[in-house]
Amino acid sequence: MALEKTLAIIKPDALEKGIIGELCKRVEDAGLKIVGMKMMQLTPKKAEGFYAVHQGKPFFAALVKYMSSGPCVVMCLEGENAIKRWRDTMGATDPEKAAEGTIRKDFGTNIERNVTHGSDAADTARSEIGYFFESGDLMHYEWI
Ligand code: CMP
Repeated sequence: MALEKTLAIIKPDALEKGIIGELCKRVEDAGLKIVGMKMMQLTPKKAEGFYAVHQGKPFFAALVKYMSSGPCVVMCLEGENAIKRWRDTMGATDPEKAAEGTIRKDFGTNIERNVTHGSDAADTARSEIGYFFESGDLMHYEWI
């Protein structure tokens, strides 16, 4: 098993629903540590840059509008197999297809307003973490 870091975003729809605390509990219940955490409102430009891989897709403009519509919480999570573990905890992108007990099943509205984001691989995790955090922003717990 590998100790990994991944980027998580608690998206604007989750803040509207008032579930930051619930989602942080799900992170910790999954055995992951929050090693970096910031609340911010993305500008449309920052959201476009973050989701640049989706540029040109039919949902891109709506995604940028929604992600910059209100505050979100960006987190760097660390733990054994953190990337897959966080994705399993979130569930499938489309809440209708997400497994029982996952975050998106429990709180997602639709495929766009799906509560959380998680990096999908080691290279994207590295670049996504770097998009929001300087290395000095991240905590190093001696018990990890
Ligand atoms: P996320 O895991 O953050 O990665 C890209 C985001 O684009 C995704 O969650 C959804 O919020 C959104 N998204 C992905 N696919 C679609 C789609 N088919 N229609 C609308 N939004 C989508």
